[in-house]
Amino acid sequence: MTTDCYEIMGFGFDNLKPAMREIGKVEDHEVLVNLQAWSLNYRDLMMIKGHYNPKLKMPLIPLSDGCGVVVETGSNVTNFKAGDKICPNFMLDYQSGPLNKKWVGQALGGAIDGVLAKTLKFPENGLVKIPDHLTFIEGATLPCAALTAWSSLFHYARIKPGDTILTYGSGGVSLFAISFAKMAGAKIIVVSAKEEKYQELKALGATECLNYKTNAKWDDHVLELTNGNGVDQVIELGGANTLEKSVKVCKLNGTISLIGVLAGIGNFNPISILMKAIKLQGIFVGNKLMFEEMNEAITLHKIKPVIDSKNFKYETVIDAYKYFDQGIHFGKVVINL
Ligand SMILES: NC(=O)c1ccc[n+]([C@@H]2O[C@H](COP(=O)([O-])OP(=O)(O)OC[C@H]3O[C@@H](n4cnc5c(N)ncnc54)[C@H](OP(=O)(O)O)[C@@H]3O)[C@@H](O)[C@H]2O)c1
Repeated sequence: MTTDCYEIMGFGFDNLKPAMREIGKVEDHEVLVNLQAWSLNYRDLMMIKGHYNPKLKMPLIPLSDGCGVVVETGSNVTNFKAGDKICPNFMLDYQSGPLNKKWVGQALGGAIDGVLAKTLKFPENGLVKIPDHLTFIEGATLPCAALTAWSSLFHYARIKPGDTILTYGSGGVSLFAISFAKMAGAKIIVVSAKEEKYQELKALGATECLNYKTNAKWDDHVLELTNGNGVDQVIELGGANTLEKSVKVCKLNGTISLIGVLAGIGNFNPISILMKAIKLQGIFVGNKLMFEEMNEAITLHKIKPVIDSKNFKYETVIDAYKYFDQGIHFGKVVINL
């Protein structure tokens, strides 16, 4: 059996080429899926530009995030049937517990081939059913951005009602962090340069929005908003260049979830981390158990992912990459059949 797919043949958007791949027959423990929708993450930009791994294995099918329908199951498969709407987990075999080196080597669309293909087979234990109220497009936003926000807030830190979190920007991870933190009863401070989107951010759950581009002292403002104490958790998406401010606005014994590198390379003095007894927690997405817990919460609270208004078809995937690269999106940039 073969499938249409895209392959990264070299770095640069125009080296993403349509291709055909052999996928073989469905083994006893495998599930055959017709993918219907995909979403882009900042990681996918870094991957195709050669910024993530200059030694990227090529040709590589890109993307970690896809959603589709089960069309066939192997004879030993018990948890899925034809017609189920599913997503593959970011690291296929990472079921639960602490991160292990072997799971890192299974990250879709990076360490191994990803999901930008029309038909793929997956091991049964690498799949998760999506919440019933979500479409394929909405489901395709969950595996990376949503799960990263979820694991940061509820596993690596444990936010409670009344806590305050701070998140950077209005990208995929940040918007899920806002939705989930609101669900948990937290206050949410967002630093975003998109002032025209503040109303939408507030409708989603943001308590305060501050502009990091026009207000260099936004960190002082955060301290004022928190009676000089700082926030309980920072969803750190900027990286080395924003970490100093994140430490400044984090309260004593608070948590900084180190997730992203949006603000590029910078110098960082770690002294305040120890003097404030801050927990600096690296995050690498999450496991299948966390994904299933997240989906239960999404179902219970009828949470809907924020999707950017521009729609891309499978045939125009390079346009989707180029659009995403401009940074003008609000919500997840998705591609569908
Ligand atoms: N560790 C993990 O497991 C993991 C998982 C997922 C993502 N990530 C990382 O998390 C980051 C966000 O990913 P994403 O897919 O959500 O990205 P995205 O959708 O592309 O979000 C980008 C947004 O971040 C904001 N931003 C850009 N530069 C900024 C800066 N200097 N300071 C503050 N905000 C800035 C902008 O928001 P405004 O226009 O509103 O300012 C921009 O729209 C990336 O670095 C990605 O690699 C890591």
